[in-house]
Amino acid sequence: MSSLPKIVVVGSCCVDFTTYAPRLPNPGETLHGTKFTTSFGGKGANQCVAAAKLGGKTYMICRVGDDDWGVKYIENLKSFGIDVTHTKTTRDITTGIAQISVASNGENQIVIVPGANNHLNNSDIQDAQELIKNADVLISQLETPDDTTYQAFKLCNGIKLLNAAPMRTDIKSLLELCTVLCVNEPEASQLVGFEVNLSNIKLALKELLDTGCKLAIITLGDKGAAYFSSDDNQCIHIPCEKVKPVDTTGAGDAFVGALATFLVTQKDRPIHQIIGAACDVASKSVTIEGTQTSFPNKYTFHENYNYIVL
Ligand code: ATP
Ligand code: RIB
Repeated sequence: MSSLPKIVVVGSCCVDFTTYAPRLPNPGETLHGTKFTTSFGGKGANQCVAAAKLGGKTYMICRVGDDDWGVKYIENLKSFGIDVTHTKTTRDITTGIAQISVASNGENQIVIVPGANNHLNNSDIQDAQELIKNADVLISQLETPDDTTYQAFKLCNGIKLLNAAPMRTDIKSLLELCTVLCVNEPEASQLVGFEVNLSNIKLALKELLDTGCKLAIITLGDKGAAYFSSDDNQCIHIPCEKVKPVDTTGAGDAFVGALATFLVTQKDRPIHQIIGAACDVASKSVTIEGTQTSFPNKYTFHENYNYIVL
């Protein structure tokens, strides 16, 4: 039996249909693109793969459809060494899909059709209850039903990490249960009710912390990330490395997967190093096209993470 910490994801799997074009289309506009790819995505699976590629012992609790994509998706998870005991196939429904447009400056637009992801339910959580109870960290997002995540969080004795994406505002009960809350700037803005930027981030993070978590994190794209921890009552900005972005799709997922991994494998490190390392992993991922394919296979910690106390 391996003694590695257990990283469990309750979340989504989507097949990503991605077009690349010089810029994003305006409403009603048709553009000529330069490339089309089909790949494996979905925030839940992306975060699980990010953790698995960094050497985490990972488990995926999710649903795919009974189409060819469902079969291929399960094979994809296995190829990263992810445990798929609790990955189920839903009959007469399609695997989730995402339609993604990527511009040459790396920006993206995404529409998802959840399909089988909408069928992840409480009996799936009951079936996996021993695993969930013993998870060192349980990660979830908002591409699967909120109540399913709620039931899983109630069972879990470890760290409960919520990536509240894509944002839904009626998630008070989930916020009260999670230990770590991670959102990007637009998601944070929706949660706190004002436009969040680096100048008001301390106020925004304090409001997020007041929803019930112990650690609130806002990712800031090329400006890195900022966090507020109730352990030491400190609010800190971690600037990130300057890189040339090629495709930012899944950057948030790379961050969350790395964060979850380092929170349980690097417990003795100060939190600014863990978040600095998650930023490094995510920044690396934006320099390569795609989501899961862009996540690094290893990460080496150093001692000189840049941080600014706010
Ligand atoms: P996405 O929805 O594109 O997956 P997100 O909006 O959830 O991403 P971001 O805040 O854009 O999340 O980015 C997450 C992390 O990725 C950042 O904290 C940063 O470390 C890294 N990152 C994103 N964009 C850039 C960039 N242009 N240059 C360097 N790092 C970046
Ligand atoms: O965060 C990126 C992911 O969002 C994509 O892989 C897509 O599937 C959507 O879920």
